[in-house]
Amino acid sequence: MINIIKRFQDLQNIKVAGKIASDTLFYISKYVKPGISTGKINDICYDRIVNYYNAYPAALKYMGFPKSICTSINDVVCHGIPSYNCILRDGDIINIDIAVCKNNYYADTSKMFFVGQPDDTAVKLCKITKKSLFLSLKCIKNGGKFKHIGKIIQNYIDKKGYSVVKNYCGHGIGKNFHEEPNILHYKNNCNLNFRSGMVFTVEPMINLGSEKTFVMNDGWTVKTKDGSLSAQYEHTILVTDYGYKILTL
Ligand code: MF3
Ligand code: CO
Ligand code: CO
Repeated sequence: MINIIKRFQDLQNIKVAGKIASDTLFYISKYVKPGISTGKINDICYDRIVNYYNAYPAALKYMGFPKSICTSINDVVCHGIPSYNCILRDGDIINIDIAVCKNNYYADTSKMFFVGQPDDTAVKLCKITKKSLFLSLKCIKNGGKFKHIGKIIQNYIDKKGYSVVKNYCGHGIGKNFHEEPNILHYKNNCNLNFRSGMVFTVEPMINLGSEKTFVMNDGWTVKTKDGSLSAQYEHTILVTDYGYKILTL
């Protein structure tokens, strides 16, 4: 089997990357206001990651991605490209996804931000999406099963009347930005067990309407097909003997 159990030294390094990613996500929060462009938000994050933390924004040039972070507004599900032409407006919800590389180790995290005051529907979608992520983490411990993550998320989201996006998933992470295994956020038959020392992301994308998505002509931006709102939260998680540790808090 592929080696997906991290050693102590690996974990120390991933933790450092995780701290940088989550600190940057916190740092940017004060700038997320009506009137700022996502291009400007990108630049602030780039500057913080590169010049303050001496790290590298993992998205930049990843498979040709042109910017340092992903900014996904309203009906954008994920992989939105920051742009100076894209100005945040009162009522928008935006996912900012920050992955960093430090000392050749990666960590990845994202969350939703409210621009001004979004309506109750949008706020509730974000709240439920965040809850689905944290509920799913409860099944994680050495010996548990990966498939329970998807089961928990989908059961909860079905109950709320939203839909789980199925064509994008979480991923192992460490010396690579994306590595095995894939983490599915919906019901599945994966028989892989959690083992202490595994590190991966959980990053459910939840739509208000249909789960169907499409990719725009820019080759990156993923939107809901029906134009409904979408939300996402992401953390990098370490499996431990009796539970898990969030490395991007
Ligand atoms: N951060 C995203 C993830 O959660 C991946 C972004 S890849 C990019 O896996 F190229 F779009 F930046
Ligand atoms: Co990720
Ligand atoms: Co991410």
